[in-house]
Amino acid sequence: MKQEMMTIVRQQQLAPRIHEMVLTGELVKQMKRPGQFIHIRVPRADLLLRRPISINQIDQDQATCTIIYRIEGDGTKVFAELEAGDQLDVMGPLGNGFDLSDLGQGDKAFIVGGGIGVPPLYELSKQLKNKGVEVIHFLGFASKEHVYYDEEFLALGDTRFSTDDGSFGIQGNVGNLLLAAEEKPTVVFACGNNGLLKTVEQLYGEVENVQLSLESRMACGMGACYACVCHVADDPSKSVKVCDDGPVFQAGEVII
Ligand code: FAD
Ligand code: FES
Repeated sequence: MKQEMMTIVRQQQLAPRIHEMVLTGELVKQMKRPGQFIHIRVPRADLLLRRPISINQIDQDQATCTIIYRIEGDGTKVFAELEAGDQLDVMGPLGNGFDLSDLGQGDKAFIVGGGIGVPPLYELSKQLKNKGVEVIHFLGFASKEHVYYDEEFLALGDTRFSTDDGSFGIQGNVGNLLLAAEEKPTVVFACGNNGLLKTVEQLYGEVENVQLSLESRMACGMGACYACVCHVADDPSKSVKVCDDGPVFQAGEVII
């Protein structure tokens, strides 16, 4: 993990409140594992805490990484006002991302995401495909206008969509999409709200390798402040840190 002033290469809006930002810097060389995140200082003096944002894409040839964020409050609003050439103070890559070791040809991966949980799944899917793993994406959004990266995921493999209002893909949530799937996965990856993660945990209890990316409020982002703890399922008196031990955990490992 290192800290650096990274430079914004470009930034564009993908959907209402959803922005894609491409950054360049030496830190990219350390970015390898999908599911890790960067911790970004907001360039506004009164906003002291960094904001954790997942790495969406890594391009070692161009020395760039991409993030996709949704405007929620002051911090992400400031990010959206920045332009190409502006710099951001970035720490990272942080956390334990998805574990792709032991996976290869013959594996079938279900990749499950909802809303702003979708971004880290893109780099994950690219890396799985490079390893010869068959990927099937299950992506849920609020409505058609909120859908982003549909073409990018379709270019990687089978992609199924749900929207709350049925305006794109089937009507309902990602759970409905998963229930309709006839295939059986050998491995499942998920990122999204706790409801989505719990659904995946319940549906795939039989699958040995189910990796869930959790979200939690963070301060330091590197294991020092205990702001982000969650409890261990086997022994709730014990806790783990989402920033440092996670954000990716095996299903059943922690209480969601
Ligand atoms: P405010 O609500 O004003 O933030 C106030 C404080 O609460 C800040 O310290 C902020 O960091 C914290 N906070 C608010 N919402 C969240 C949240 N959902 N999770 C954690 N902290 C929060 N969002 C994206 O849009 N794209 C991503 O790829 C992404 N990846 C994430 C990866 C991880 C590991 C985590 C923990 C969170 C991720 N988030 C992502 C959520 C993102 O960090 C928050 O939306 C963002 O910090 C909100 O900041 P704000 O100043 O705009 O909002
Ligand atoms: Fe400080 Fe996780 S945010 S320990």
